Amino acid sequence: MQPSQLRSLAWLDARALPGASFRELAEEAVRHLRAEHPHYHWVGIYMVEGALLRLWSWDGPAATQHVEIPLDQGVCGYAASTGSIANVPDVDQDPRYLQCFLGTRSELVVPIRAGERVFGEIDIDSDRLAAFDDSDEAFLSAFGSRLAELAADAGLQGHVPG
Ligand code: SME
Repeated sequence: MQPSQLRSLAWLDARALPGASFRELAEEAVRHLRAEHPHYHWVGIYMVEGALLRLWSWDGPAATQHVEIPLDQGVCGYAASTGSIANVPDVDQDPRYLQCFLGTRSELVVPIRAGERVFGEIDIDSDRLAAFDDSDEAFLSAFGSRLAELAADAGLQGHVPG
């Protein structure tokens, strides 16, 4: 992992204290990720609520109309309903893609997952084609695992895919 990625994991560990509010942490995390990783142009955290994903926090140049996404729709729905990472190098070539911003060229969605249970996901849009590499996937998987532990501690249910 890159130094900036390791610093972000340390940042999260320092905030992830027992009893911390998951909602406040989600707000801080999107701001932190966008500020520290310049190719993360828009960052959101969606959480699984029944058959929907709901946008709990976001940071970026503009709000999205997709504040609720059914689990069977979009790149976001794919990641949450399968528990798999979706790394889309060119959103114009992906039939699952739901457009939020005209400038978006690539998207990375990483589940917030503990074992089989998926609590939500981190969704990142970039204005660059193929902006996300293996290190982004590894970093955000680790970040998401830590968030999943906190979500479980907070009593959130998420779901188990399949
Ligand atoms: N593009 C996503 C929708 C969320 S916006 O990027 C914020 C999708 O295809 O699910």
